[in-house]
Amino acid sequence: MEIIKRTPQMKALARRLVAEGNRVGFVPTMGALHAGHLSLMQRARQMCDVVIVSIFINPIQFGPSEDLDRYPRDLAHDAELCMTRGVDYIFAPLIDEIYPEDFSTYVIVEGLSDRLCGSSREGHFRGVTTVVTKLFNIIKPQFAFFGRKDAQQAVIVKRMMEDLSMDTEIVVCPIVRDEDGLALSSRNAYLTAEERKAATVLHRALEKAQVLYGAGERDAGALVRNIEEIVGTEPLVRIDYVSVVNTRDLEPIQSLSDDQTTLIALAAYVGKTRLIDNVVLNGEI
Ligand code: PAJ
Repeated sequence: MEIIKRTPQMKALARRLVAEGNRVGFVPTMGALHAGHLSLMQRARQMCDVVIVSIFINPIQFGPSEDLDRYPRDLAHDAELCMTRGVDYIFAPLIDEIYPEDFSTYVIVEGLSDRLCGSSREGHFRGVTTVVTKLFNIIKPQFAFFGRKDAQQAVIVKRMMEDLSMDTEIVVCPIVRDEDGLALSSRNAYLTAEERKAATVLHRALEKAQVLYGAGERDAGALVRNIEEIVGTEPLVRIDYVSVVNTRDLEPIQSLSDDQTTLIALAAYVGKTRLIDNVVLNGEI
């Protein structure tokens, strides 16, 4: 495995790999790798000849009061983990490789980027779509792997691919959870032991919604109220939003139907840490 830090070198290598007939799979990450990230690499390993992982903490997707400064960084440990999943190359560019001083071009997926997490994280998805476009242009992968943990991100990236006629095929992979159900996230590291325990309520609430849906509940309001009630039993957890939306345009749904895929997305503060989780009913993203 090789770690590449310069863009021209990464570009040249990626082009050579494709010219040699390899299927290139790409897993974009911000590091602080855990089993969720590793599952994407594993999927890429199964589907592709060459697996490239990027590790880049993208400053423009963090708001001014967010955790950019304290986001966990440990490239050596991340590299070890990548090695265990048979990753071929890590692209770990320095900040000015990606954003030179006069950088001034952004990619915005309108509408979708303002909903759900977009309303409390202004500019976040603009940062994501800009860096993903840039990374795709450098690496030109045939396949790129995203987690359904960040469902809105996956929906937005897929829409961008369609709208801009980009060639990479997006593969959305399932959410990896801890034994107690908590979705793995680099931000779980911020939780105290007590908060960590309280945070499991998010998954329990979503699971209950799934059970209610299975039992025939089709009223989105009833599902939302149920989730709010369950999460409300944990004093350390405060809901930011819970929304029942369709997976195409993330518009709210009042009444769930059997021929439409539905996303129930939940964001909540556990202490000061903002966590997200979701469930998809009746299909996949
Ligand atoms: P990051 O938060 O590091 O996540 C990288 C990828 O891992 C994303 O596709 C995310 O959905 C996936 N992932 C995280 N936790 C997961 C879990 N528990 N189960 C399955 N997949 C999981 O998402 C980003 O970075 C950035 O926005 C990025 C796309 C790299 C652009 O900067």
